[in-house]
Amino acid sequence: EQEIKAITIANAAELEDFRIRFLGAKGIVKQIFGEMKNVPADQRKEAGQLLNSFKILAEETFESFKGLQVDTKAKGPAIDNTLPGTPLPIGTRHPLRVVENKIVSIFERIGFSVATGPEIEDDWHNFTSLNMPEHHPARDMQDTFYVSTNPDWVLRTHTSSTQARILETEQLPIRVICPGRVYRNETISARAHCFFHQCEGLYVDKNVSFADLKQTLYYFVTEMFGENTKVRFRPSYFPFTEPSAEMDISCTVCGGSGCNLCKHTGWVEILGCGMVHPNMLRNFGIDPEVYTGFAFGMGVERITQVKYQVNDLRMYSQNDVRFLRQFQAIT
Ligand code: PHE
Repeated sequence: EQEIKAITIANAAELEDFRIRFLGAKGIVKQIFGEMKNVPADQRKEAGQLLNSFKILAEETFESFKGLQVDTKAKGPAIDNTLPGTPLPIGTRHPLRVVENKIVSIFERIGFSVATGPEIEDDWHNFTSLNMPEHHPARDMQDTFYVSTNPDWVLRTHTSSTQARILETEQLPIRVICPGRVYRNETISARAHCFFHQCEGLYVDKNVSFADLKQTLYYFVTEMFGENTKVRFRPSYFPFTEPSAEMDISCTVCGGSGCNLCKHTGWVEILGCGMVHPNMLRNFGIDPEVYTGFAFGMGVERITQVKYQVNDLRMYSQNDVRFLRQFQAIT
């Protein structure tokens, strides 16, 4: 028994030797069975049990080594270490995360730091401090989800709430980029969703001008969409910026010759921006006569759509690996 337990079998030839020695027609097991007639009758039962368990051990040892043989005819080692391992499927980064990382790294390169804030926000940080007091009509622009247990709490409707928190806690000058998920009560369709992602930027210092805003965003666009991309600004309205603008870029898909993305106009809107409203600076104890700033906000889904032509917003949250795997090569 001891001997069998100590045995290792490395190849088919050794396995066959083992079989002949223990289990063959003239093998040890057969021989001992032959001796049984010489055992006194009163010890025969005990001897029979011992012999049986020995036989089972020999058979099991044979079977287990046989199972390990890759090729019972081969003379080489039982296990072929050169065979490739079982492949482990590796997931891919989500396209929105890929694009968010790109946006953040472009702004980090010009000295912006990154800040995040809570998705459940209070009224002050999401609305009031951003120059949207109670009953301000601009609140209706963003269909807000309220938290039922507390009328003061909302699911943040934009990442501007993070900027409010930064203005509250950080020392000037401030140069920050705030990525995150936001929520609006919209019916889910190809063009709208009840949650999406934004990246907002804020820069407050002495002598910050609209020219700084334009140059910063122009730098962003050329880094993200390529050197030949053009930008244009259209006047717009946001309660927390004055003046406000929306920025378009020249269509990256058709180059102006006409496609569905730019609706044959040659221009695609990608973000809102403006100079931080003096009221907002005052809300955080900053003197607008001394400091000025600019802010901008973009939708990550929108940037991804323009860059990779994803036309249906629902794709981002359906977890269809056929969609997600297409972004495997992009980092
Ligand atoms: N918060 C605005 C939105 O969600 C975007 C924005 C940010 C506009 C900063 C101007 C300045 O629509």
